[in-house]
Amino acid sequence: MKHRILIVSSANIDFVQRMARLPQQGETVLEDAVCKYVAGGKGSNSAVAFARLGADAVFCAKVGRDENGARLKRIYGEEGIDTRFVFEDSQFSTGLASILVEEEDGANRIIVYPGANGALSVENVEEAFTCYPDGVFVQLEIPDEAVFAAARFAREKDIPLFVDAGPVRPGFPLEELGRAEILSPNETECAALTGIVPDSVESCLKAAIRLAGMVETKYVVIKLGSRGSFVYDGKYYHLVPAHKVQAVDTTAAGDVFTAALSYAYLQKGDIQEAARFATYAAALSVTKEGAVPSVPTLRQVKDFAAQLREGGR
Ligand code: ATP
Ligand code: RIB
Repeated sequence: MKHRILIVSSANIDFVQRMARLPQQGETVLEDAVCKYVAGGKGSNSAVAFARLGADAVFCAKVGRDENGARLKRIYGEEGIDTRFVFEDSQFSTGLASILVEEEDGANRIIVYPGANGALSVENVEEAFTCYPDGVFVQLEIPDEAVFAAARFAREKDIPLFVDAGPVRPGFPLEELGRAEILSPNETECAALTGIVPDSVESCLKAAIRLAGMVETKYVVIKLGSRGSFVYDGKYYHLVPAHKVQAVDTTAAGDVFTAALSYAYLQKGDIQEAARFATYAAALSVTKEGAVPSVPTLRQVKDFAAQLREGGR
């Protein structure tokens, strides 16, 4: 079944530099680094992931009335994403992210200028709900009011809500989400929300229990980078190790993971199977440069999974 998923989130153009070595404080590094402008933003990455995996993706976001905004909308259209609710703001320019990627392990450092993302309003979100979604997916790179409105409308209409907690700000009132099907923070977000660094099974469990106490959620799935993910269903936990791949650029791995997790969960309702599927998708995304350009298709995820199974992994 092709589920319609409404992604309420952010849109950016990423300026990406791959560096052999990052500058120290006060240092200027001149490098013939590979620089690229690519489509990004947590919402773009997730919307493209849903679309490439086969969902009917409807994107609710805000871009500027500028060249970058037009470029993003063109890309979404080419991906088959419904852009009726990608609004244009005449005051702010399209969001920008400056990303430094370390060549050694593909790890990144990101600074975001939110621009038009900061103007996504409750009214915009309300309008987007006229698409009659089967699932709603939110991330936190937009105003809190927009996130809470999406959560409220989803609750009122009894639509499952998937929350990727990136990038959470300290003091974010998680409880205002009310109810979620899956809540998925990464390590930093988990620590910011709970005060617990999820660096062991015990601390993951403690953090997951705390998160489940903060918001009514069926599942907590903590993303643990190259260590994999931790799935908690309110009673039992399950660890899903990451696949060993050559990490080129980890940007968007988290977005791809949570989108793939939500997609697969909507398809079959099995959280462990969904986490395994998401782990394949995210592993593929780290082997490629860039945010949107690194998002795999359903075919690629299936082939990769089959290849690993044949190799006994
Ligand atoms: P980002 O902010 O870079 O998009 P994130 O911090 O939100 O990512 P991570 O925990 O880094 O999310 O990654 C999400 C998932 O991607 C992990 O749970 C894991 O399955 C996979 N992953 C991340 N890094 C690697 C890696 N180096 N090798 C293999 N898989 C990885
Ligand atoms: O999660 C990766 C994304 O974070 C990048 O594409 C960047 O735009 C920031 O939003």
